[in-house]
Amino acid sequence: MQIYKRLLGYSLAHKSQLIVAILMMIVTALTQPAFAALMRPLTDEAFVQSDMAGAPRIAGLIFLVLLLNGVASFFSGTLMSRIGWSVISRLRGELFSKYLNMPTGFFDSASSGKLISSITYNTEQVAEAATNSITLLIRDGVAVLGLLAMMFYLDYRMAMGFLIVAPVVTLIVTYVTRRFRKISSRIQNSMGDVAHVTEEMVNAHRVVKIFGGHDYEENQFKKANNFNRAQNIKLIVTKSASTPIVQLCVALVLVGAILFASSKNLAEPVTAGTFVAFMTCMLLLMPSIKGLTEINPRIQKGIAAGEKIFLVIDDDNEVDDGHLSMERSDGNLVFENVGFRYSPDDKEVLKDISFEVNAGQTIAFVGFSGSGKSTLVNLLPRLYNPGSGRILLDGIAIDELKLKDLRAQIAYVGQEVTLFNDSIKNNIAYGELADASDEEIIAAAKAANAWEFIQELPDGLLTMTGEKGMLLSGGQRQRLAIARALLKNAPILILDEATASLDTNSERLIQTAIENASRDRTTLVIAHRLSTIENADMILVMEDGEIVERGKHAELLASNGRYSSLHAMQFSAE
Ligand SMILES: Nc1ncnc2c1ncn2[C@@H]1O[C@H](COP(=O)(O)OP(=O)(O)O)[C@@H](O)[C@H]1O
Ligand SMILES: [Mg+2]
Repeated sequence: MQIYKRLLGYSLAHKSQLIVAILMMIVTALTQPAFAALMRPLTDEAFVQSDMAGAPRIAGLIFLVLLLNGVASFFSGTLMSRIGWSVISRLRGELFSKYLNMPTGFFDSASSGKLISSITYNTEQVAEAATNSITLLIRDGVAVLGLLAMMFYLDYRMAMGFLIVAPVVTLIVTYVTRRFRKISSRIQNSMGDVAHVTEEMVNAHRVVKIFGGHDYEENQFKKANNFNRAQNIKLIVTKSASTPIVQLCVALVLVGAILFASSKNLAEPVTAGTFVAFMTCMLLLMPSIKGLTEINPRIQKGIAAGEKIFLVIDDDNEVDDGHLSMERSDGNLVFENVGFRYSPDDKEVLKDISFEVNAGQTIAFVGFSGSGKSTLVNLLPRLYNPGSGRILLDGIAIDELKLKDLRAQIAYVGQEVTLFNDSIKNNIAYGELADASDEEIIAAAKAANAWEFIQELPDGLLTMTGEKGMLLSGGQRQRLAIARALLKNAPILILDEATASLDTNSERLIQTAIENASRDRTTLVIAHRLSTIENADMILVMEDGEIVERGKHAELLASNGRYSSLHAMQFSAE
């Protein structure tokens, strides 16, 4: 109920449109008993008494009633659609901006297919509940009440039958409601599964092809697809069974009415006109009752979808309670006894990490994969927050800084290059860099040794990269990412295995670019090849989330510890 009230709130935001629409629905509904009522004089006067004098007037009235019905249902229909689409687009907007503000951990555990289907599918279900159910409730509700009233007015004896079937109808509707809610929720989940499997297949199509994953993917999809189909059919069977059962109850009343009207020696016989008007009421009643029985399914669908949407909307945003602003940092960085785990019951990924980097220095992290290097640098832009200890930037704890200001100090090239389906130019000048001039972009591209290949592309800077940069080679993508980081010209640069996917030749090209870039800024580099960090001001060797050695290249080599054995390993490999 609470969720439904909240859903309705979205429609109530369009109060004036809603009021007009509801008035129009009431008019539409009331034309039905009015139409039925006109049948009595028409039959009694024109046909039974053969007095045609009044017929043109009644014909005119019938035309008017039908005209009114048409006009009113046009306006109520279009107005409700307007409201419905406003609700959908508002919910989509709210969800999207919520996603934008969710913490990184949210995306680690969420299925992107489900996040997408929430925006595309669940929002429509909600709008359905928040608008169409109102239409059905008001229009068909008023119509049923109006028709029933008219029937009691026409002949209360024949109408009495309704008092008998009413409880049966209520029972059926209650049962159907419960079943609907359950099935709807399953359907929405399985829509998410369908999207999820499809999305994974699309992203992994190369692996699927080469590793012969056709059958596996097909099976995964079939499972989700079949489950979805089965649940939808269940829903329709329930709905399709409930409507005729309800209509059958009404039909029983009809039979009773006919038997009653045709029985002889009634104290007050039923006139032909009354009977025709009564029958008309009954016929008009059928579709409206059908409408009423469909309200619940829609509402249940909407509630099931709304539950999922509101769960996300009500979730906590990324924590951003820092109050200090920062123009441009000097780049003095201190980690103080930092500890971190991804979730409370996971193992500690970082343990008691302490180190200092002075402005302009380069610090390198080495260690086996899984030792916590990426996790460590991700704490700096607060993609995750440390469980213990502090990180200081220019002496200020980073959680006291406004998130936006903190992140403005940092340029980042990650392990996995992220490119958008846009031109090379817009990929380099992404986000807050969008105002950069062509000269600046070209300078950054040159510094990243990317200009050479960009120049040779058919459209130069305006060449499209394809989704995820698929139209470029791995090394080219990496160089674009580096150009983006250089264009940002931030005081802190994070390079997380930025050269990992490069061949030796382009690595050398990039090495010079990185050396240039790191000259005037604090640089945190996670090294893939140890040869690239020999000049670092400090090297931290990590193992199982701990710093096990620290020092300069020569010192570390001389001390014959883990670094020197790592070095020996790589050297012999090369
Ligand atoms: N998003 C995540 N959620 C849970 N555990 C993670 C996540 N990312 C990494 N880990 C775990 O944290 C540890 C350190 O990973 P990472 O920092 O990526 O190491 P490295 O960059 O040194 O290879 C690994 O054991 C890894 O399984
Ligand atoms: Mg890593």
